[in-house]
Amino acid sequence: MFRKTILCIGAGYVGGPTMAVIAKHCPEYKVVVVDINPKRIAQWQSDKLPIYEPGLDEVVFATRNRNLFFSTDVDSHIESSDIIFVSVNTPTKTFGQGAGKAADLQYWEKTARQILKNSSTGKIVVEKSTLPVRTAAAMERILNSNEKGIHFDVLSNPEFLAEGTAIADLESPDRILVGARNTDSGQNALEQIVEIYAHWTPREKIITSNVWSSELSKLVANAFLAQRVSSINTISALCEKTNADIEEVSRAIGMDSRIGPKFLKAGVGFGGSCFKKDILNLAYIAETYGLTEVSRYWEQVVEINSYQQDRFVRIIVNSMFNTVAGKKIALFGFAFKADTGDTRESPAISIAQSLMDERAVLSIYDPKASEGITPELVDYEGRFSVEHSPVSAADGAHAIIIATDWAEFRDYDYSAIFEKMEKPAFIFDGRNILDHQKLYEIGFSVHRIGRPPLSRLA
Ligand code: NAD
Ligand code: UGA
Repeated sequence: MFRKTILCIGAGYVGGPTMAVIAKHCPEYKVVVVDINPKRIAQWQSDKLPIYEPGLDEVVFATRNRNLFFSTDVDSHIESSDIIFVSVNTPTKTFGQGAGKAADLQYWEKTARQILKNSSTGKIVVEKSTLPVRTAAAMERILNSNEKGIHFDVLSNPEFLAEGTAIADLESPDRILVGARNTDSGQNALEQIVEIYAHWTPREKIITSNVWSSELSKLVANAFLAQRVSSINTISALCEKTNADIEEVSRAIGMDSRIGPKFLKAGVGFGGSCFKKDILNLAYIAETYGLTEVSRYWEQVVEINSYQQDRFVRIIVNSMFNTVAGKKIALFGFAFKADTGDTRESPAISIAQSLMDERAVLSIYDPKASEGITPELVDYEGRFSVEHSPVSAADGAHAIIIATDWAEFRDYDYSAIFEKMEKPAFIFDGRNILDHQKLYEIGFSVHRIGRPPLSRLA
């Protein structure tokens, strides 16, 4: 017999791992994760989970069918649960007012209506998805304007995990944030959410706030992180003009304890499903309140990100004698960062597309994200191949491009790879992760971000 039932609607990158960790630490709670996508649920119930995340298999396999359950039956599980986390997707709107900027809340609103329809008692509804500030007000209005005489408390508990380190982030978070109304019922609901995390998180790391601060803090955290990446990338462009070295500049500024060393790695720009959408959403909210300068400031972070990707492609084409038409180019990495199979908004997508627009023929290899490659490049069918080894990807290629910071890319036998490539052979390290001097000694012309090239050509 379980003490309480927790439901999570949305079995994605956030819902699955977060609920698995809650189930692990709260064996007295029944934790159910539901999704409208039957394929995803079947994968969560199988030996091959739908997402790759270090440490995830162990947690899921230890808790599944003990107190962690996956199901497609959303309706009946709503009725039988006490606390409902909603972790459905909140992509950027593609139509109507705010298209390209505002969050598309249709999935969220549908879920709220579904919760209402299937509840005969009041429940705690927790926003786990990232949402525009004041969304909870709209949700409360939908949920509480009912004729059943039941009351819902809507809380905000944003998720700060990063992909690739999701389990470590969930196990020892920098902080847990819970926002609630300052009413008796709101504060009682807040205590129940805090109590879940207190099973494994020190109390001083669980912070509480009002709902709006919590909703806004999530957007702002992502905006600040992305802003650091764009800032360092602007400096990488300046380094390339001045022979300063971005790695040395990052280290020098990062040792200032007020700046700190993280998120100062220059590269091909940020990807992932959230940074761009959340900044655009923040900018849109500011714009709707008439704060044009605030909105423009944040939009610039996204613009610099596109600039960095365009710049990288220009460096590739210019270095390869101003044409890549008909040349085979190996792309190492398609995931938006290392240790994930996620390709959403990956910088590799725009780099691949731009090179194929220049008529290059791409051979793409990624250790964990091969499945995502073809769907992301549907309009380019026949102009790229998906390879299952780095060696076959580079065979006969004129250049290798590093688009993702997978650690294994450092360990390849580049002498053997070099032998099989067309000459002159180039490497464009978009993540600054390889041993550039060694590659140069093998015979490659090596181009990197924010550092002078090691060119074998006059
Ligand atoms: P996702 O697309 O991987 O998962 C969302 C899931 O919700 C999908 O499986 C979808 O089928 C399901 N869904 C949609 N509507 C539904 C409905 N009505 N009923 C049941 N299921 C439904 O998305 P994600 O990456 O897990 O992100 C979810 C939210 O968390 C987003 O708001 C995102 O911004 C936020 N977030 C994501 C991350 C991350 O690392 N991916 C980190 C922090 C916050
Ligand atoms: C990010 C945040 O780090 C999480 O806290 C947040 O919960 C999540 O977004 C979200 O809301 O979805 P994530 O996108 O998974 O997590 O990964 P990050 O580690 O933040 O990397 C984002 C992108 O920035 C990647 O493409 C990465 O390669 C790039 N990056 C990161 C850099 O180019 N340089 C850096 O120094 C750091």
